[in-house]
Amino acid sequence: MSGLIPQTFINDLIESADIVEIIGSRLELKKAGRNFQGLCPFHNEKTPSFSVSPEKQFFHCFGCKESGTVLTFLMKYENLDFVEAIEALAKHLGRDVPRERGKRDSAPEQTKELHALESAVQIFKDNLRNSSEAISYLKRRGISGEIARDFGLGYAPDEWQHLSSKLEKDGFSAQVLLNSGLTTTNDRGRHYDRFRGRITFPIRNIRGKTIGFGGRVFRDGTPKYLNSPETKLFSKSKEVYGLFEARKGNQRLDRLILVEGYMDVIALAQHGIRNVVATLGTAVGEDHLRKMYRYSREIVCCFDGDEAGRSAAFRALEAALPFLDEKKRIHFIFLPNGEDPDSFVNRNGSDRFLELVQSSTPGFEYLFSSLGSNLDLSLLDDKVALAGLARPLIDRVNSKLARDVLLARLGELTGLDLSKPQPRGASKPIQVRRDFSQPVQKLSERLAGMLVRRPELLKVLSIEDRDALAALGNESDLFFKVETIISRDPNLLPEELISRWPDAEDVDKVVALANFEEVLGVDEQEIQFLEGVGRWLGLREANAEVERLKKHINDRGEEGTVNN
Ligand code: GTP
Ligand code: MN
Repeated sequence: MSGLIPQTFINDLIESADIVEIIGSRLELKKAGRNFQGLCPFHNEKTPSFSVSPEKQFFHCFGCKESGTVLTFLMKYENLDFVEAIEALAKHLGRDVPRERGKRDSAPEQTKELHALESAVQIFKDNLRNSSEAISYLKRRGISGEIARDFGLGYAPDEWQHLSSKLEKDGFSAQVLLNSGLTTTNDRGRHYDRFRGRITFPIRNIRGKTIGFGGRVFRDGTPKYLNSPETKLFSKSKEVYGLFEARKGNQRLDRLILVEGYMDVIALAQHGIRNVVATLGTAVGEDHLRKMYRYSREIVCCFDGDEAGRSAAFRALEAALPFLDEKKRIHFIFLPNGEDPDSFVNRNGSDRFLELVQSSTPGFEYLFSSLGSNLDLSLLDDKVALAGLARPLIDRVNSKLARDVLLARLGELTGLDLSKPQPRGASKPIQVRRDFSQPVQKLSERLAGMLVRRPELLKVLSIEDRDALAALGNESDLFFKVETIISRDPNLLPEELISRWPDAEDVDKVVALANFEEVLGVDEQEIQFLEGVGRWLGLREANAEVERLKKHINDRGEEGTVNN
């Protein structure tokens, strides 16, 4: 798990894999000329518009516009992240994944801390087996041995140095225990166990490694729940509880249900509903949502039906707006007063809970109904008020298509004519048009275009990537000009970038890139951007690759007419 995977290995892997075989073993493909065709697994269709090219080692859907390499396919189809897809492909080809020591290891390794946390899971589990009191608490709450095992539940006895003395005997230093959040210190510098007299819930990252714990008192005592502190491994504003377990139950998560508590996740799992995650005692934020939308297109948030629940739902919706598009959705469930998912499912059973999920309120509908709830839209003044409230929120949506639809609804409600193209809060409109006749000449230009349209993409690169790019770059290259301007001001709109462009001679090119309509969703853009940069860095035969891409993009226009 340590170290970076050499880009040359990734390139080799893509080259050696037979994309037709990999995809063909997962869906039915028929030969059609030089390519293979099938029903697209990424959208619903009755006639095949999904095409796989053995020559280009590329797939493309003319219906939903998904496209990419064998790695992109595996990521999307199997719901894997980039590294997991590489590992899966390497395994299929009987290769070991090499790792480079040193640079770009995104997180510091914290290996000892991870080991300490894993040992703690074992110790807590053993304790649970030997504590009739803890077992009977879990029984009382309806939790079976199987669920306790799946979630790695354990028990920390009410002692100051139960865990730390065991772990120190196993050779973990006091500092490692402190860094891992398992112990804490008092003002006199004495170290002692953080979790005492509690049921313990390991918090696992997406790879299943325990990075922290939650603990619930089951006798008297406060606080009711205790979490690990913020450490190098764990941050409660980024992690959601149960994601690893949810993915283990279902590789393809069509839907994720977001609840508030550990016990809600566990109780729903106990009733066979396994696609559930929880925030860890914090409000739902963008980082949580980014993580969840990597694995699922639909998030159903569960809140109390009271005033607090409704305002929490609205805040979650605001945080979700940048992610929403024609595929990614958010929905809301409001539970009857005084119920949480745990009590609800125990009282009413899983069918009733799933009915709530089925009839959950879609996010955009919720947006307009809550904004309009105290307004009388027969009054001109209230129409103005609604437009004022809705407009900045609609601007937060990154998908142009979604924004257009929302503006149309706002238009219906207010009588405002918003049907003309609306630049996002910008004064100079830019014309958006799709132009496949204009091939993107180079990988670097393609990447530059992505950056022009979506400066946030720069943030997905590590410092090391950016250094490596800079080392390879030539200052007159379009990509680096874009990068330089955006590094100074990461929130630039395309038209602002154009207005700051330093050279008259290639400004036309930038305008063309800005106008190129992006067909990929936000996540796909991130993936393709990362892959593209990786490929650029790893290009040994740069020209060959450029030719291939050119050809692919040219061919795409031609094939499109055959298939449509
Ligand atoms: P049960 O009482 O065990 O059913 O838990 P619950 O999940 O219903 O508890 P509640 O709705 O009170 O809290 C929801 C979540 O908020 C918990 O799962 C915790 O993550 C968090 N939480 C609740 N109480 C505390 C607390 O006292 N301290 C901290 N740090 N977090 C808490
Ligand atoms: Mn509860």
